[in-house]
Amino acid sequence: MSFIPYGKQWIGEEDIDAISETLRSDFLTTGPKVAEFEKAVAEYCGAKYAVAVCNGTAALHIASLGLLKPGDKVLTTPNSFLATSNAILYAGAKPLFVDIQENGNIDLDLCEEALQNDPTIEALYAVHFSGNPVEQEKLESLKAKYDITILEDCAHSIGAEYEGIKAGSCTHSDASIFSFHPVKHMTTGEGGMVTTNDEALYEHLKMLRNHGMVKTPDMKPWEYEMRELGFNYRITDIQCALGLSQLKKLNDFIERRRQLAQRYDEAFADHPNIEPLYRYNGRSSYHLYVVLIDFNKTDISKEELFVRIGERGIGLQLHYMPINRQPYYRRLGYGEESLPNMDRYYERCLSIPLYPKLKVEEQDYVIENLKELVGG
Ligand SMILES: Cc1ncc(COP(=O)(O)O)c(C=O)c1O
Repeated sequence: MSFIPYGKQWIGEEDIDAISETLRSDFLTTGPKVAEFEKAVAEYCGAKYAVAVCNGTAALHIASLGLLKPGDKVLTTPNSFLATSNAILYAGAKPLFVDIQENGNIDLDLCEEALQNDPTIEALYAVHFSGNPVEQEKLESLKAKYDITILEDCAHSIGAEYEGIKAGSCTHSDASIFSFHPVKHMTTGEGGMVTTNDEALYEHLKMLRNHGMVKTPDMKPWEYEMRELGFNYRITDIQCALGLSQLKKLNDFIERRRQLAQRYDEAFADHPNIEPLYRYNGRSSYHLYVVLIDFNKTDISKEELFVRIGERGIGLQLHYMPINRQPYYRRLGYGEESLPNMDRYYERCLSIPLYPKLKVEEQDYVIENLKELVGG
């Protein structure tokens, strides 16, 4: 059996054909495939507009420049990849870390308390952690009551659906972002996207993606105008050809992830030491399958488990170390917040292999080895 990582892409011959076709075409970058991919993702999520960029971090960066002002206070989660709160810093704004609930998502009731206590808080960045969407009715009510800007980080959650509301539809938010890194549900190698229903924001983001530059029909043929400081965050036609081909298979990929997640749920149902972060709920699109293990009750430490299961050809990951306790954040004055749920979660969480190409025999091998090493 070859090494079983925690996550992995699935590239088929049709993906390779799609890329080859683009390589043989006139456009390698910013050709028809970029617009086609944007339209297809916007339609898939049910958003009006989409702007494709070179990675999810770039998507967060331009979205943050479009949504935030320097000095804005932004509620966000410590349980995410660094990129989520880093983007708040890129915009000169100030992340405020809020504790998580039992399912690993930001606690929106605590967000409400913070908004009540501090009316100068401007925004909320919520991550649908592991693919499991945050409560949309709470986003709706926070937006209505406190008139805040909301960004949904959907890097884990393309295809997730919360009572008819698709991740990325921006039904109760101003913008959403996606990542198409190979461990995510579908890939473009590296790639990202912002979706929004706000036309002005859409136009602004397109400009930021391309050096803050515009070219209008009334200009001379060689002219362009730089209206603000932007970036080269363009994605290529080659990547978007891959994205379009992957998107056709996305629902199958998600279905497969859900089936595997349910098999894990069953396997750990009665286990005294291994508890799924949440059980199948029909909403999550399962970027990750996270288990909680109380290492106070096991003979093996978390570190030993990583090493020993790795020796048996199984890759684990940990999502995530609390962002607020990173050295860089400590230098900015973070790190001593009281976030007891996050700390307790961090002690216990582990992500175990989950990807559509994972075979049932491989999954059984993971289950068997995890149970044996953890004991109980
Ligand atoms: C929640 C979250 N947001 C943003 C990103 C950034 O995406 P990218 O790696 O494409 O820059 C990631 C990547 O892992 C992520 O997990």
